[in-house]
Amino acid sequence: MVIALSDFDVAAIRKQFPILQQEVNGHPLVYLDNAATTQKPESVIDAIANYYRYDNSNVHRGAHALSDRATEKFEGARVQLAQFINAPAKEQLLWTRGTTEGINVVAASWGRANLSAGDRVLVSAMEHHSNIVPWQMVAEATGAIVEPIAVTAEGVIDLSALREQLDERVKMVALGHVSNALGSINPVADIIPLAHAAGAKVLIDAAQSIAHWPLDVQALDCDFLVFSGHKMFGPTGIGALYGKRELLEAMPPYQGGGEMIESVSFAGTIYNQLPYKFEAGTPNIAGAIGLAAAVSFLQSFDREAADRHEQALLRSAEQQLQALGGFPLVGTSREKTAVMSFTCDFAHPQDVGMILDQQGVAVRTGNHCAQPIMDQFGIPGTVRASFSLYNNEDDVAKLMAALAKAKMFLA
Ligand code: ALA
Repeated sequence: MVIALSDFDVAAIRKQFPILQQEVNGHPLVYLDNAATTQKPESVIDAIANYYRYDNSNVHRGAHALSDRATEKFEGARVQLAQFINAPAKEQLLWTRGTTEGINVVAASWGRANLSAGDRVLVSAMEHHSNIVPWQMVAEATGAIVEPIAVTAEGVIDLSALREQLDERVKMVALGHVSNALGSINPVADIIPLAHAAGAKVLIDAAQSIAHWPLDVQALDCDFLVFSGHKMFGPTGIGALYGKRELLEAMPPYQGGGEMIESVSFAGTIYNQLPYKFEAGTPNIAGAIGLAAAVSFLQSFDREAADRHEQALLRSAEQQLQALGGFPLVGTSREKTAVMSFTCDFAHPQDVGMILDQQGVAVRTGNHCAQPIMDQFGIPGTVRASFSLYNNEDDVAKLMAALAKAKMFLA
């Protein structure tokens, strides 16, 4: 069956990504590991290089032109990112190293100040380890309990089970917007009001959603939202944490050092105001500037058309995979980003991944840092092909040809 792809101009987009124009293992690269990290367009690479070439300096503290310029670009990036997620104010956008650090800040700072013995933190059974372990660490320190929200065999959150779990002892619901392992899109717009009605706060891990469609933290009414730059065409080592102002104001600092203080003396230290209270040490200035360039890239085309293009690729790939046989899909939610996770009836996912790599096709294999959901499904892991807006029908065809070869060698 031929599926018509959307009119999204993928050829023009592809040209902006120099890394895609290479051969790997003697074959043109087919990059399908976008849920792990996306590639970077020329504009992001240039923004980072130009910062180091022309503007490199420390921010907020120099009495010279370069420092002023670097500070302007760095704080300008904060404004751009805050507007991108519709945060009410730039002070509510804190720079982090990425999603993992953002969750750790909330778990350690908000968690230690607000959780006590017997309180409950709910996370879905398909969370990434980074949205489980920081809560387990704070639970160990406070006596709180971390509980999974049930997920169905299709990879969908069981809302009726969640409704039963929610009571006044639930203080936090921490939820991935999209499962990195399965691609399931969680109904966060339904869950946030449910959690609030029970008196809980909500943290949304937007690492796997922010590259796919616009997010609006005020419309969502989430208490915290975290994401990574490198999964949205920006650099590694930079991400952001959004929080409601009253919560951030009340939270103790996460790390001590320079920048996060107003004044220091041995009689006592006064902390800086938001957002600097949470930004000890010299920040990732180049990263913030590169991430702002990634936002500009995302704003340079029709994001709905890009999403339709990715969805068309997913439908095409899933139909062809099922026609090939021997590679059962894992995660069959009707609401998914373009993530195709599957097992193999005749070999370990890792062996399949190796054969694909030999043919220039890059996928991820393993448990995708989501061991609990793999355990629930009784599998060691999956092969995961994750599509981005620069992938095309040719990539799908090459993936299928490589899988057919894998079947021939391994079955
Ligand atoms: N969390 C990233 C992934 O899913 C690394 O691959």
